[in-house]
Amino acid sequence: MTKDKKIQIQKTETSTGKNIITALDIGSSKICCFIAEVKSGARMAPDNILSPERASSIEVIGIGHQASKGVKAGTIIDLRATETAVAHAVESAELMAKDRLQGQPIKSVLINVPGMHTLPHPLSVDVRIAGHEVSDRDVRNALSHSHNIVVPGKEELIHVIPAGYSIDRTKGIQEPRGMIGQNLGVNITAITGLSPALRHLAAVAGQNNLELDGFCSTPYASGLAASVGDELQLGCTVIDIGGGTTSIAVFFEGKLVYSAAIPVGGIHVTNDIARGLITSIADAERIKTLYGNAHATGIDNGELIDVPPMGEEEHEHPNYVPRSFLTSIIQPRIEETFELVRAKLVDSGISQIAGRRVILTGGASQLPGLCDIGQLILDKQIRLGKPRNIKGLAEATGGPAFSTAVGLLIYAAEHADEIPAVSSSRSFGLPGPLNNPMLQKVTHWLKENW
Ligand SMILES: Nc1ncnc2c1ncn2[C@@H]1O[C@H](COP(=O)(O)OP(=O)(O)OP(=O)(O)O)[C@@H](O)[C@H]1O
Ligand SMILES: [Mg+2]
Repeated sequence: MTKDKKIQIQKTETSTGKNIITALDIGSSKICCFIAEVKSGARMAPDNILSPERASSIEVIGIGHQASKGVKAGTIIDLRATETAVAHAVESAELMAKDRLQGQPIKSVLINVPGMHTLPHPLSVDVRIAGHEVSDRDVRNALSHSHNIVVPGKEELIHVIPAGYSIDRTKGIQEPRGMIGQNLGVNITAITGLSPALRHLAAVAGQNNLELDGFCSTPYASGLAASVGDELQLGCTVIDIGGGTTSIAVFFEGKLVYSAAIPVGGIHVTNDIARGLITSIADAERIKTLYGNAHATGIDNGELIDVPPMGEEEHEHPNYVPRSFLTSIIQPRIEETFELVRAKLVDSGISQIAGRRVILTGGASQLPGLCDIGQLILDKQIRLGKPRNIKGLAEATGGPAFSTAVGLLIYAAEHADEIPAVSSSRSFGLPGPLNNPMLQKVTHWLKENW
């Protein structure tokens, strides 16, 4: 990818005839770009349960990731720095995928939107059927009501998810098309993104001469990647603890019903350690990864850790502190994080629906003792989750820090019909059956907004 090439209108199929999708996870700690080839048929079954065969039809062919620049707590604070970091990540991914792409640059990307910049809007819509068969048009008509919740200039729709159907008073309908009744009821999860954040993300893509396939809420992507079996169907909460944010997604009956975030993550833990132990950020990060624990068990075996003092190049005067002291720095921050998550779930009223199952993912979920604290504060059953095993995913990029990037690929391959199309007149189109089963492009978004 070069900066001077002209913007091209992307095609889903490359001239090599392959279905290529590219995911860009712009995080507070790292930026990563995953390029994948998708074989048709990689679509979610009506019950939303993926079989391994379906998942394996996404093959990662290029990966580029590097330390994030210009992003703080999920917000772009330096556009140029972020653009440059994205350029490097995309270039590395393209280089790795060079043979499979036959030297062609990628043309478009799907980008995550941190939960900090999204708003969930649960809607219930009734449309009159008057005794005829429910058609695709009726469903689209119902979903189109989600456009009414958008405050122009402030937010844009990024997901329109039909979360459940009813016909007359019969609830729990999975597929209403073809059924007969007087009224079609649709529960919709509409997620909007705040316009300034979307514009900055779009600008980052545009500056790298990449068109936009669409946006996906960060915790939604992480949930798609880190859940297994029927967890989404049974109802669960996915918590992605990243560098600068902790993102929350609640799924019920296989659908996203809520997403949110709080501006606290692993970087805050590192900063607390650097302050508490009077050491550098880099040493605090190393100490956290090597010796960190979120949960004081009450057993102190007197273990000491070596803390390099600030400003001493040769580490002449080692400073030994009890490991339990390190835990006493980390634990309050982790407790605070889970308290904030609990408050979000309770305040939104979603806590009951969310059930008792929690999946923890994201880079910072690797801190030992995290599950114990989370279990105590949230009073839920917690497990650690990492991205489901997709072809081409190496061990180094298969950890929990990559749940969002993998989830973006799954979203593009299997949930593209939840991306609202944007018409050139800036009004939103409707999600519907796609000519191309892989991706509904958000065309002209950049041109209309920039
Ligand atoms: N082994 C580990 N133990 C504890 N923390 C870890 C470990 N490995 C990584 N982390 C922490 O994970 C965090 C980065 O996570 P991740 O890569 O998911 O963030 P991100 O996606 O860039 O950020 P965000 O999603 O908040 O914008 C860092 O704070 C890092 O210290
Ligand atoms: Mg992240």
